[in-house]
Amino acid sequence: MVLIVPSILSADFARLAEEIRRVEQAGATMLHLDVMDGHFVPNITIGPPVVECIRRATRMTLDVHLMISDPDRYIPAFVEAGADQISVHQEACLHLDRTLRSIRSRGLAAGVVLNPATPVAMLDDVLELVDFVLVMSVNPGFGGQQFIPNALRKIRALDERRRRLGLAFKLEIDGGVNEENLAEVVRAGCDWIVMGASVFGSPDPAGTLARMQEIAREATSVRI
Ligand code: DX5
Ligand code: ZN
Repeated sequence: MVLIVPSILSADFARLAEEIRRVEQAGATMLHLDVMDGHFVPNITIGPPVVECIRRATRMTLDVHLMISDPDRYIPAFVEAGADQISVHQEACLHLDRTLRSIRSRGLAAGVVLNPATPVAMLDDVLELVDFVLVMSVNPGFGGQQFIPNALRKIRALDERRRRLGLAFKLEIDGGVNEENLAEVVRAGCDWIVMGASVFGSPDPAGTLARMQEIAREATSVRI
């Protein structure tokens, strides 16, 4: 089943619990949390204390996307805060194999993220260590950017690899997904589709989320 995963980056942080409740009631089961450090990406967002508060406000799976340098240093704090799954950027990890193993050893699902300029082949030696691969379809740092189409080719290439290798990792996409390109993203082979501005930037986030889920469901039935 394809999941629409709302990203709180474009939510109203002064009313975060309420924003989260609205998408949860509309059927979301996973919530995407963007952690930025002003170093790996040119923006700063939230840290473990906020994740801990969100943990208390929802039962959704917390999908923590670390856009930070030296993620190894902070992984324990996000585990402690209640993350269910953590993804780290290939570009930020000097010892990616070790980092992915350490996330899994703590009982969480481990994901690896690729920036738009990083080829899929960079992951060939870690695919067996991941529960999901997150393909960035924008350069990380901000919500509301325009979709970079090479992400679709990368999703197809990863989908082909998982079939060929008999692996079960999920494919997640993040950035610039909207009502217009959603069906194509689903048909490329994505399982989890992050949507920030399209959901929380709309006048009715709950209604928008429900509509996106419906579009994704329809597109799944005609997947090629
Ligand atoms: C961007 C973040 C995304 C962001 C996507 O660096 O990783 O998760 O929230 O937002 P939209 O859907 O607005 O592009
Ligand atoms: Zn993200």
